Amino acid sequence: MPSSSQQNTFLIWGGNGWVAGHLETILKDQGQTVYTTTVRMENREAVMAELDRVKPTHVMNCAGCTGRPNVDWCEDNKAATIRSNVIGTLNLADVCDQRGIHITVFATGCIYAYDEAHPMGGPGFLETDPANFSGSFYSATKSKVEEIMMKYTNVLCLRLRMPVSDDLHPRNFVTKISSYSHVVDIPNSNTILHDLLPCAIILASAKETGVYNFTNPGTISHNEVLTLFERIVRPGFRWKNFTLEQQSQVIKAGRSNCELDTKKLVEKMREFGVEMPEIHDAYGKCFERMVKNGVK
Ligand SMILES: NC(=O)c1ccc[n+]([C@@H]2O[C@H](COP(=O)([O-])OP(=O)(O)OC[C@H]3O[C@@H](n4cnc5c(N)ncnc54)[C@H](OP(=O)(O)O)[C@@H]3O)[C@@H](O)[C@H]2O)c1
Repeated sequence: MPSSSQQNTFLIWGGNGWVAGHLETILKDQGQTVYTTTVRMENREAVMAELDRVKPTHVMNCAGCTGRPNVDWCEDNKAATIRSNVIGTLNLADVCDQRGIHITVFATGCIYAYDEAHPMGGPGFLETDPANFSGSFYSATKSKVEEIMMKYTNVLCLRLRMPVSDDLHPRNFVTKISSYSHVVDIPNSNTILHDLLPCAIILASAKETGVYNFTNPGTISHNEVLTLFERIVRPGFRWKNFTLEQQSQVIKAGRSNCELDTKKLVEKMREFGVEMPEIHDAYGKCFERMVKNGVK
């Protein structure tokens, strides 16, 4: 561990969330100084008081309105979604800016959809490409806020997509698709948390700023994921496919399908001596860890 990182104090916002929990575990395992908070981001006085109390060098913003059981909830709860994903997210970035605190925001890459210039098979969307997917209110809030938030100079914005953990937590993308009666079969960029969260800590510690597509390199289709799952974790597992048109009958909000270009992230991580694992390799290793963790 570089000695400078020993002086870092991390404050994780949205402390009870799924990504937050994984990040806290990794930071603690690294022996870093880490605190969590559940203070509402939109409550400016409370945010200022919390920052002044903890005095973090780094805020890790894992808070966001994601909807339960899924983003369809945001369609019917637009004010609450705006309060967290727009007002809250900007408020926290703004107060950090005023205090000169570096903030890492766990954002989403679900702001794109394959189009003529970015068909399946690539090229993927660059960090600089304007969002082209607003089929869900959740995604619409996230893309608009990112554009404004990136005017601040203290923000590192990491775009996760379909995050995957080494267990079968309900928020894990694999848990979701392995429990649906039918799944579509489309290649997508995915984030294996085991690989990417340590990178977030490295980038934050170095006070990197700007936007990064924060997924493993390459794309993987739903059927490829479930084939690996069947082979490594749950022999005999079977699933059924349906089309995008059929999927649209059972969901309220649209879902993004896209490839994110990871060149910027891959090259940046090489500067820190880290090689990003390709998505199929990463899934294989993830499922092997799942088996070791006792998942069936
Ligand atoms: N999981 C995914 O599929 C996925 C994909 C891409 C990006 N992301 C992004 O990554 C971040 C973390 O996701 P996650 O899966 O860990 O979500 P999560 O489990 O729902 O955790 C989010 C946490 O944020 C808190 N929160 C919501 N609004 C808040 C506010 N205004 N002030 C303070 N805390 C607030 C929630 O607390 P309450 O429940 O009390 O509101 C919850 O504990 C989110 O911003 C999400 O949009 C997630």
